[in-house]
Amino acid sequence: MFDAAHWTDMLVAPQNHQRLESMMFRAVRVGQAVVRRVLAGQEGNDTRSGNVAAEIDDQVPQVVFFLQADRAVGQEHERSVARESADGVVRVNPRVHARRRLELRPRRPQLRRDDSRGRLQFFNQFAADHTNPSYTSVSVPAHRAVIGKLEKIPRLPLALTPTPIEELARLREALGSAPSLFVKRDDAIPLGFGGNKIRKLHVVAAQALADGADTLITTGGVQSNHARATASIAARLGLQSVLIANGKPQDKPTANALLDRLLGADVRYVSSREERAPAMQAAAEELRARGRKPFIIPLGASTAHGAAAYALAMGELLDQMSAPDAIVLSTSSGGTHAGILAGCVLHGLPTRVIGISADDPAPAIAGEIRRILADLEKLLEAPGVFAGAPIEIDDTFVGAGYGVATAESTEAIELCARREALFLDPTYTAKAMAALIAKVRRRDLPVDRVLFWHTGGQVGLFA
Ligand SMILES: Cc1ncc(COP(=O)(O)O)c(C=O)c1O
Repeated sequence: MFDAAHWTDMLVAPQNHQRLESMMFRAVRVGQAVVRRVLAGQEGNDTRSGNVAAEIDDQVPQVVFFLQADRAVGQEHERSVARESADGVVRVNPRVHARRRLELRPRRPQLRRDDSRGRLQFFNQFAADHTNPSYTSVSVPAHRAVIGKLEKIPRLPLALTPTPIEELARLREALGSAPSLFVKRDDAIPLGFGGNKIRKLHVVAAQALADGADTLITTGGVQSNHARATASIAARLGLQSVLIANGKPQDKPTANALLDRLLGADVRYVSSREERAPAMQAAAEELRARGRKPFIIPLGASTAHGAAAYALAMGELLDQMSAPDAIVLSTSSGGTHAGILAGCVLHGLPTRVIGISADDPAPAIAGEIRRILADLEKLLEAPGVFAGAPIEIDDTFVGAGYGVATAESTEAIELCARREALFLDPTYTAKAMAALIAKVRRRDLPVDRVLFWHTGGQVGLFA
């Protein structure tokens, strides 16, 4: 509907008009335009649109209002499709407009890129001045050139995505006056029982193939989701996998350990976390001595490439829905969190990204995320692009420790199963969902739309 080269700066849909809003979001590539709903009471009223336009007119080169096509906004719209009126507002009937595939061209020069921060501040102030809880989302122009580089990073041609996004209406109902809740189902990636590690590995393993690798080496606990994902990708690609597992072999392997065996992985045990990295190096040396080409994947595939997979996933999400106000996810080695945050920065989104620690203290994870973002800046040749990205981590839901259930995580597992037939894993996603539930109950998330990013791990229910 819109030509990317001729972007408008603000699109407005009447509030509480779901159908129109979704038409609008389908039409718009979010991140290229500023999108927000009109304030309460507008209900598609043309005059009120004009008032809002007058307030913002000095700041924004062009405003486009989407009117309710089936309201009495005049036959004129059906005929003229889009018109500029005296108040300088282009009014569009989306149905007709979409049919004729018109382009909108800016009336006045676009703001320069470096004005985008000021514009975001302006919009935030505008939202604050109009104390309306239905204020939804604002985006500033994306770093399109960097996104272009991101999209050129080689990936395996596996049918992983887009993963579904579902609304959690029954969970929301159980939580009372909750914001709209959505879930991004990375647990539903088909290959190898899915999860965030499969998503990361479809970029990281492409790197290994480009390196000529014939064996993937990685590490984790005996029940590591990442190790199982690596063994799955290796099996699919016809590579060997060596898994350095800290812990004791199970007499009768269950869950991920069972899958590792079925996948034909060479599992080697060490007794502590500290021994993992040296054991991976030793395995690589041994393989090289035998003429093999090993590729070491660090813990959790939390490298710049692994994070790139999640920065790309934000683009995938924006093709499916408008940006949520907040994303809640489980965080541990930091790669998933870093990637989603990077995606938000690149698409110019003000979305809060809230990582819920599964184990380590917040400062330790934040340090890892900063390191990964710095590496990603290098990979994308975009120095400083992620400087100042707000890293938000809550480590108060770990409880007694990694993998140890809490009353809240147990409740989260049961509530999601009984209300949504959505299965969480005990170690990661249950604690992240417990945090989401607690924050909603405590009204710590005063926003309209919250997305829970399901990072998988459901195999862990059978450990
Ligand atoms: C199911 C699940 N969710 C979340 C995470 C945390 O992701 P990251 O290591 O990228 O922080 C993991 C890590 O192992 C995981 O297995």
